Formats: sequence, C-alpha cells, structure tokens
Amino acid sequence: MLNQLFRKKPIGAATGSEGEIHGAQSLGKHLSLRDLTFFGIAAIIGAGSFSSMGTACFNGGPGVVFLFILCAVACGFTALCYADFAARVPVSGSAYTYAYVSFGELFAWIIGWALLMEYSIGNIYVAFAWSGYFTNLLDGLGLHMPEWLTINYTAAHIAFDSGTTGEGTTAWNTAPMLAGLRIIFDLPAFAINAFITWLVYTGVKESRNVSNIMVVVKLAIIVLVIIVGAAYVDIDNWTPWMPNGFSGVMAGVSAVFFAYIGFDAVSTLAEESKNPQRDLPKGMIISLVVCTAVYIVLALVLTGMVGYKQLGVSDPLAEVFAIRGVKWMLFIVSIAAVVAMTSVMLVFQLGQPRIWMSMSRDGLLPKRFASIHPRYKTPGFSTIVTGLVVGIPIFFTDENFILDFTSIG
Ligand code: ALA
Repeated sequence: MLNQLFRKKPIGAATGSEGEIHGAQSLGKHLSLRDLTFFGIAAIIGAGSFSSMGTACFNGGPGVVFLFILCAVACGFTALCYADFAARVPVSGSAYTYAYVSFGELFAWIIGWALLMEYSIGNIYVAFAWSGYFTNLLDGLGLHMPEWLTINYTAAHIAFDSGTTGEGTTAWNTAPMLAGLRIIFDLPAFAINAFITWLVYTGVKESRNVSNIMVVVKLAIIVLVIIVGAAYVDIDNWTPWMPNGFSGVMAGVSAVFFAYIGFDAVSTLAEESKNPQRDLPKGMIISLVVCTAVYIVLALVLTGMVGYKQLGVSDPLAEVFAIRGVKWMLFIVSIAAVVAMTSVMLVFQLGQPRIWMSMSRDGLLPKRFASIHPRYKTPGFSTIVTGLVVGIPIFFTDENFILDFTSIG
C-alpha cells in the first residue's frame, strides 16, 4: 500500500513521447519560443500589478523595490527548477508530473489539486477583479450596468447585512425578484469566463494569437504609464526610502509574490511546443526577467509620483494619475487592466485542463479527462469542466473566500 502511494513514474514513461502513447490523441504542436515567452508575460502581469501592488507600496514605501527584487530572485530559483524539469520531462502535467517522477504518486496527487487552486480558483478571483475594471470602463463610456448584474449574490448579501452603502447594498435593494429570490449575479465575470473557455476549447493556435495581441497591448500601455508617470516623479517622494523599516517592506510579500506567479503555467504547454526542451526553460526565464524589469520601474514611478501613504488603494495605477490630475490616463489604465487580466485568465484556463489531462493519463482521474478534441486538438472535455469549475462558483461565492483559497494553492 505504502509502496503504491510513493511509487514514482519513471522519466522514460513520463516523456515516452505522449504522442506515441496516446496515438491519435496528441495535441497540436504550434508554439515557438516567442509564443511561450508571451504566454509567460500574459500570465504574470495582471491583477497583482493593477491592484495588490498598491498595498505593498503603502506598507513598504519606495523601498518596496527591494521586495520586488527579492521576490524576483526567489521566483528566479523556482523558474530554474521548472526550467530544468521542463527540459527533462517535457509533458503537460507541469509540477504535477515533476512531483510524480521525483516524489511519487501521493505527492503528485496533492500537487495536482493544489494547482487546481492556483489556476481554477485563482481564475474566479481574476474574473471578479476583471468585472470591476470592465464596469468602470463601461461607466467611463457612459454605459451603466445595473448593480444587480455586476456583483455576486453573496457579496451583495454581506454588504446589505452589514448596513454599508455602496454597490452591494444598491444591488440588494434594486434586484428584480423571481419566485421569491433576488436575481443578483456578476454578469461580466460570468461572460469573460464563458468567452475564455470557448477560446481555449477551439484551439491553442487561436489562444496563442489572442494572447500575443494582448501582451503587446498591455506592455505598450505599461510603457506609456511609465513614460507619462516619469514626468510627474518628484524625487522627494523617495525619502524616506523605507518609512516602516524592513518589516514594512516585507509586509507586502504575498501581494508581490502573487504579482509574479504565472510563469509556471507555461510548463503546461510542453506538448504543444515545437521544441519544448529548448524553448520552455528559455520562455519562462525571459518572461520573468522582462516582468521583473517592468515591476521595478513601475514601483519606482508609482512611489515617485505621489507619497507612499496615498497608494493604499485597490487601483493604484489609476489613483496616481487621478491625484496628479492626468485624467486622460484613467481610461487607458482601465483598458490595460482589462486586457492584462484577460490574458492571465487565458493562460490559467489553458493550464488547468492540461494538468487534468495528465492526471487522467496516469489513471488518477476518469479517462474522459484525457480525451482530445478530434478537430481542435485540445483537451476538450477537461476544458469544459474547467469552465464549469470557474463559472459556477461565480454565482455564489465572494472574492475574499476565493482569495484565501488561491493563496493556499
Ligand atoms: N501574476 C498574476 C496576476 O498578477 C496572477 O494577476
């Protein structure tokens, strides 16, 4: 029994050219080094930079740059491990398969489900954050959606019970009734999940094209934010450098770490890469280096534009421009946030089904999970299940519960 729990998958069997093992059931090989690097950047820059970076700057002051460097070093070592494994075991299971070949079945099983929390549950959180920025964007265009269509039921209920004013209470008070039940749900969050599920179902080539466009758009806008923001930097704001000492800097560690995760998801695309042994390690490392450079410069610009005490908000990039009176940038930042979060969702939603596919091939999930769509060459069944696992909780859970779950993952 114990032997079975700790039995390891031989590397030869893991790599044993999955295409041969699964016959016609192989995925389409379409991804180059550039695509993998772009997928990495797509997955890394998202809600972390557009939202949680604010609290990290607030706690740490300008010295938060140290934290970005420290996390980059930590993630760099992780990426090197991933890179080494990805070169040795170039199959789609990512950390699940790596655990299987090195520690055995029990660890692989645990890691497989932990990855579910990172990718699927994480995507529920990103979908809610996406919805917030998207509705702001619509408001900016003069299109207002009713509150009962932009918040989830639980959050509205909690807001109403706690007697606060705001979106949740308005949604509760204005929601239409059906059979004695209030109709309240987050339509944009639901819709973006449905769209992403459809996209990843129809093909990795299609997903790659959309991902590449989104990465170019988000990097271009972030460079614009940096250039415009740099003109408003007042170097006096960089003193004191660490107002709350080193412990203040370290207080933002989970937020900054969240901003870095995602490069690992690239390894789930191993079987769809043209040359996984060479390109996966390179793609992960290059995307991490690019994002580290972006984060350090962005943190310097944000903490230089306004006093660090003004950055304790959920939308720091918009806030700095609002404070400095650069109103036209607000709309551009909202577009960047929506694009960035869409790209994170896309890569996570690509990753999850491929983990399940690998678990199913190893007999740890029913065979259906390994089935490949004959035309689209994607793990069709697992992709639809992922869409449901992300989509159904959108109706009844709230962000805070989901964020705790993602952190565990
Ligand atoms: N790193 C990703 C983000 O910040 C998860 O959204």
